[in-house]
Amino acid sequence: MKIINNILESIVMEAFERAGFDSKYGKVSLSDRPDLCDYQCNGALTAAKEYKKAPFMIADEVVKNIENQMIKKAEMVKPGFINITLSEKFLSEYCQKMIESNKLGFEDVKGKKIVLDYGGPNIAKPLHVGHLRPAVIGESIKRIHKFVGDEVIGDVHLGDWGLQMGLIIEELKVRKPDLLYFDENYEGDYPKDPPFTIDELEEIYPAASKKTKVEDNATAEEIAFAEEFKENARKNTGLLQQQKRGYYDLWKQIVAVSLEDLKKNYEKLNVNFDLWLGESDSQKYVPEMIKMMEDRKIIYESDGAMVVDVQEPTDNNTINPCMILKRGGVSCYQTTDLATLLQRKKEFNPDEVIYVVDKRQEMHFVQVFRCAKKADLVNSDTVLTFLGFGTINGKDGKPFKTRDGGVMRLEKLIEEVNKKIYNKLADNKEMTEKEKNEISKIVGLAALKYADLSNQISKDYIFDIDKFTSIEGDTGPYILYTIVRVKSIIKKYKENNPNFVKSKINIPGSDVERNIMLLISQFNQTIEQAYIENAPYKICSYLYKLATEFNSFYNNTKILKEEKATAEAHIELITLVKHVLEIGIDLLGFSAPDKM
Ligand code: ARG
Repeated sequence: MKIINNILESIVMEAFERAGFDSKYGKVSLSDRPDLCDYQCNGALTAAKEYKKAPFMIADEVVKNIENQMIKKAEMVKPGFINITLSEKFLSEYCQKMIESNKLGFEDVKGKKIVLDYGGPNIAKPLHVGHLRPAVIGESIKRIHKFVGDEVIGDVHLGDWGLQMGLIIEELKVRKPDLLYFDENYEGDYPKDPPFTIDELEEIYPAASKKTKVEDNATAEEIAFAEEFKENARKNTGLLQQQKRGYYDLWKQIVAVSLEDLKKNYEKLNVNFDLWLGESDSQKYVPEMIKMMEDRKIIYESDGAMVVDVQEPTDNNTINPCMILKRGGVSCYQTTDLATLLQRKKEFNPDEVIYVVDKRQEMHFVQVFRCAKKADLVNSDTVLTFLGFGTINGKDGKPFKTRDGGVMRLEKLIEEVNKKIYNKLADNKEMTEKEKNEISKIVGLAALKYADLSNQISKDYIFDIDKFTSIEGDTGPYILYTIVRVKSIIKKYKENNPNFVKSKINIPGSDVERNIMLLISQFNQTIEQAYIENAPYKICSYLYKLATEFNSFYNNTKILKEEKATAEAHIELITLVKHVLEIGIDLLGFSAPDKM
């Protein structure tokens, strides 16, 4: 179904033309003053300059040329707005047609092929609060693009190939020097079982990382120790990347143990990846990539490292050369991201690659994208998009921490949110213990995800668990509560009227009913905007408006107590409300329970 805003726009553009003005002034948008009209056009205000005529005169002439069944009223409002109100008949028919159409009448666009790089957890490090955003945002972006008609391949892109792996190997060497993996003379098979648990592993990395850092007042000896440890780790990393026997096998164990844990945690978030590839998977493309850079004569040596210049004449500030290989031919963060682009081109040939990554990494991606284009690692028309997200802060405005100042593990965070919800259900006598547990997980996830997605991606936000889990206000639980309410009304009606099958939506009988229809009719426009701008928050605010309107309908109308035909029409309408809300939350990556 065509987006109403677009239909109106062609009508208004034509009216501008018929009145003797350029049609380009006929842009239409949603009304800023919903109390006055549904849509508006401000074009007469801008046209005034070109035609040296008062805006209200232009608007007046245009309005005279607007004639259409779908429009109840098109009027000029001083100083020169054109306010448009839809006819009630059109609105109810549009909603009815949505019910009868596939995907609520959303018209597929010609789909693109997209690789979506999100998640980005690092092997051997537990997921913490910083991993919430890429997972939650990425999952929603994936669902929105799929809904619209794109083919999306979601890749977790594990951090499994950098210096941190060399550090872990070094620390293991110190702690468990007798492991077969370190025996240079050993030629047999390595044990099947990993030589550590996930808990051990997660403790090893920070311990190793700490050894490379020195205090300001460190002694020469301490400094030398840290330097040596780091140098060993660097060498380990290089050897690992050359797939040295023993090291490579040990690394596989580290990845396997860690991955199992990661998968479990992403599952809890209802976040699903199509590919579980990592930085390491791009290693086989590195030689070819270097060759492409050599052929184009863009790579050169600098201080023992290999780099490519990416500065452009129009830059206002300095953009450092992109590091391709570190000293000793060791791959670094740029290497793996670049080689991964080549890999993606060969394996998927995508139209676009979207990265959902911390916005503080923007410069890294500027370098990588420029270098990739320069070396033809991607097609010239491949779109490379960096979706940088902001930080989750505590109430003090600083990055969110645990009470004792540590990094909050994601598992713990999810648990705390679920517990909050559980406490609200604790006294509910109509639920079994099992139901309470299940429902608090569903609602907890909605609270967490909605809180994140209702903010613009690039903005920081404050983690306020009490606010997020509240059933009132612009929250996930509020949206779910509304869906549950609609579900129970429908259920009750069907129980009392077993013969009811289907009806049709009526002309709205009240302002609030009309508001609901107007909002529903803007479903396709909302999704399209969220899609074009990669902006799930637009879906959140839309759902919140619809939920609020529905609740005031519920409070002001005897939805089911009217005479039969009206009650049935109401049921059709609220079923549609439910459908829109459910599709909406599915695009955000969560679902609703049957009761709460
Ligand atoms: N592992 C990285 C980190 O912890 C994030 C990876 C983001 N994705 C990428 N293709 N670079 O910072």
